[in-house]
Amino acid sequence: MKVSPNYNLRQAILDSGIQIDSSCGGVGTCGRCLAKVNEGKVKTKKTGLISPGKKEKGYVLSCLSKVQSDLIIEIPRQRKARAKIVDGVFAEIKSKKYSDINRSEISSVQIKPWIKKEAITVEKPSLSYGTSDLYRLKKSVREKLGIENCIVPIHLTRKLPRVLREKNWEITVTADKENATLIDIQPGKTGSKCYGLALDIGTTSLVIYLVDLGNGKIISTESEYNPQIKFGEDIINRIIYAGKKGGLEKLREIVVDSINNMIWKLLFNSRIDADNIVSLMVAGNSTMMHLFYGVSPRYIREEPYVTVANKFPGSTASEVNIKHIKNAYVYSIQGVASYLGGDITSGILATDMFKKEELTLFMDLGTNGELVVGNSEWMMGASCSAGPAFEGGGVKCGIRAVDGAIEKVSIDQRTYKCQVEVIGGGKPAGICGSGLIDVIGEMYLKGVIDRKGKFNQEIGNKYLKCEDKICHYVLVNGRDSANRRDIYISEVDIDNLIRAKAAIYAGIKTLLEEVDLNVDDLEKIYIAGGLGRHLYVKNAIVIGMLPDVEVKKYFFLGNTSVTGAYLSLLSEDKYKQSSDIADHITYIELSVNMKFMDRYVAGLFLPYTDMKDFPSVEESLYSPDKKIKSRFK
Ligand code: FES
Repeated sequence: MKVSPNYNLRQAILDSGIQIDSSCGGVGTCGRCLAKVNEGKVKTKKTGLISPGKKEKGYVLSCLSKVQSDLIIEIPRQRKARAKIVDGVFAEIKSKKYSDINRSEISSVQIKPWIKKEAITVEKPSLSYGTSDLYRLKKSVREKLGIENCIVPIHLTRKLPRVLREKNWEITVTADKENATLIDIQPGKTGSKCYGLALDIGTTSLVIYLVDLGNGKIISTESEYNPQIKFGEDIINRIIYAGKKGGLEKLREIVVDSINNMIWKLLFNSRIDADNIVSLMVAGNSTMMHLFYGVSPRYIREEPYVTVANKFPGSTASEVNIKHIKNAYVYSIQGVASYLGGDITSGILATDMFKKEELTLFMDLGTNGELVVGNSEWMMGASCSAGPAFEGGGVKCGIRAVDGAIEKVSIDQRTYKCQVEVIGGGKPAGICGSGLIDVIGEMYLKGVIDRKGKFNQEIGNKYLKCEDKICHYVLVNGRDSANRRDIYISEVDIDNLIRAKAAIYAGIKTLLEEVDLNVDDLEKIYIAGGLGRHLYVKNAIVIGMLPDVEVKKYFFLGNTSVTGAYLSLLSEDKYKQSSDIADHITYIELSVNMKFMDRYVAGLFLPYTDMKDFPSVEESLYSPDKKIKSRFK
């Protein structure tokens, strides 16, 4: 390919269509956009993220490099394992690990979709009854569907005279009762069968269900990674990219392309007539929703951190560039604030917490930790930035929770050799968020690291490798890994994880203290999001990320965002409830909260500065081997 001199090397790689890991979005802090310059010259900025050995071999961080001549470069194989994301209701219902909270919400929903498709007969005009076609259509809609003064958009008004006369004044109308708007008109009786799509736009993945609106059956599902990942793994980096020239359009275009692709696959696999798909319900965090609608998310990141809209107005599919389903209307789930979006409202809707008296904490753990605490009387929410570590980002050997990811680790107390469990079996390719939490918990309990997350060099751990004062602990030797490279964890990785877990726990503590409660008052803790699926709660408590309460209080819910979108699609009441939930949550801005900052700093130790917060961890440090305790002094 041809680029101009001084062109950014990472951008050139992306322009050529090659995917390159870029967790930090190209600001030179993640160290993952490596390229090896085999021939030619680049001008590159200094970085401590590449070892001297690699530098000598010609490796550079592509985001920090500018093209100076013709080049031949090599891009190391990316660590991402190939896998399909299995997520959502199907996976949850099949898996015993999941509680039946979502299931009971799903089975109790009264199917009452607010999009109606019905055949009606419109009165013929005559010399004595010479009212307009539009007037007579509205009259019939009022009489048959009970919608007063329905809005008939101009594109339907244009085809109205033909549609009315084609089958002798018999037509089928599709109407949105909630917004008193006609979605489609077709000549004759085309049947009342109609379908909807429930879509979750996550920062990491996209999940979509095709739903029969008559009986609530999920006919088919599709999932894909959010292709925006290559422009930054977390929302802050996406917002930064959206602010660049053409960035917003690019981010919108690639996510909409992926959604169109998924819709096409659903239609192809189910053989359902696209004309019968009448609605698309979208849930996502505030930044993802802005990007989907092509609205600048810039002010989400700038003080005082406001959205352009917490709920986007309904639109036709074509207005938001959704193809294949031209008759569908697009709706969104209302969010609460900049960092507490419609995905969380949707998640709360999928649980019973807004109907019960029990004090419940709902957490969605991903690149952001979103938290809501409360019950049927009140709810309070906050969000804290955890960074991409829990999704395998910002960690050298991190990958997402897909086949080939290490999800569980145990360390032999005598030899310090690791035993790993891999998602899907087979050879490991990297370590995912839950595996990272597990390994840090294990390392701490077995004395491999101290309370600050620094390696203990005195224990004779032969799996600890140090080069130029940079140490890393080899979990899996290259011989046994899928990529033929060692899978290891370094002190920098541990640092990233400790900062992420400190933010989550500080968020929980601060939120509870705002209402004079503490973690012991919690009766249930719901964990949503992909991380929960493989999380070993005990070790999440050991590292001080989750409150030290009885493990039986924890419930894993999986992708509640798509579940809430699915429920809203099926029931007018549920859709209204989702807006009520969003209106009901009081949002606390943690980024300017001094108590949060204090708690965060206190959380930069394992498990926490004050061990009294984690009595069960303190106890396990004494047993079974009292010698272990001395290592933590
Ligand atoms: S260091 Fe280059 S993309 Fe992160």
